[in-house]
Amino acid sequence: MEKIFSGIQPSGTLTLGNYLGAIQQFVELQNDYDCFFCIVDEHAITVPQERLKLRQNIRSLAALYLASGIDPEKATLFIQSEVPAHTQLGWMLQSISYVGELERMTQYKDKSEGKDAVSSALLTYPSLMAADILLYNTNVVPVGDDQKQHLELTRNLAQRFNNRFNDIFTIPEIRIPKVGARIMSLQDPTKKMSKSDSNEKGYISMLDEPKKIEKKIKSAVTDSEGIVKFDKENKPGVSNLLTIYSSCTGESIETLEAKYKGKGYGDFKQGVADAVISVLKPIQDRYAALIDSEKLDDILDQGAEKASFTANKTVAKAKKAMGLGRVKK
Ligand code: TYM
Repeated sequence: MEKIFSGIQPSGTLTLGNYLGAIQQFVELQNDYDCFFCIVDEHAITVPQERLKLRQNIRSLAALYLASGIDPEKATLFIQSEVPAHTQLGWMLQSISYVGELERMTQYKDKSEGKDAVSSALLTYPSLMAADILLYNTNVVPVGDDQKQHLELTRNLAQRFNNRFNDIFTIPEIRIPKVGARIMSLQDPTKKMSKSDSNEKGYISMLDEPKKIEKKIKSAVTDSEGIVKFDKENKPGVSNLLTIYSSCTGESIETLEAKYKGKGYGDFKQGVADAVISVLKPIQDRYAALIDSEKLDDILDQGAEKASFTANKTVAKAKKAMGLGRVKK
């Protein structure tokens, strides 16, 4: 069976963008692939974190994965720092990564811009991400649009390692959803929806109460034309809402345009809010039952064990290929 790996950072409550760009496709894919889904806490510490908050976010993300429909019988769910193979292979891949190519990563440029204290881990982050993926002989990596460049680097590093040492890594393919690969901010639809947005009205958190969701969608920036039509260039706000609506209901953009023909933005926004709430409310209910359960710990313990089994085998192969360790007599 083909293998899938993907990860999400526990750096705050997930947004609707994370759900529609990533988790929603994970839930579908777990039926057809051998899946590994990871809470990438070691990636989160590339920028300063508050210790207690980080620990809460890690648990919360695990509960959200499960509440969204990740089934531990079908997929392996685990925490990155509980599987030491990630940093081990990450270090090896750093040794074949070039500073120049890491500096060219747009996410690095965005996150380091204007800061005078940038951690070296923020720069080498993509080498660790490559390790995450390559440890599991991954064939396919489902992600949102913003991870394309990191995936390209992962493929380059895998090829470089295979050519330089031994042919041990599978070259992974990227998988981006047709609709919802890049959900935009509700307040500035030219920017990606992000949990680190300083304006809370720009994003919907997966745990926002229904009333709050409705309010945020009703105050989303649109335009003065009053026509519900998909046109990214001239109507980025309406187009983003159409994308959200379509990803939540599975109805095509054309169907939605037809449904709201001749109606104003008030009706349309109500429709979007209802669609989002009908997706997130059941997840929130399941989340509440999971967050303090021991079941969650059992699932994560088993996940770490299962992930370690595969990951350790890859690390052993990579060490041997690079000449690390000793020759045993
Ligand atoms: P992260 O934690 O920023 O985001 C997790 C996933 O959500 C997607 N995403 C979005 N999709 C659509 N619209 C948006 N506005 C939006 N915002 C986020 C992201 O594309 C991602 O799929 N580097 C990764 C985490 C990572 C990883 C990995 C991913 C670490 N190792 C290995 C895949 C494989 C990140 O920071 O994602």
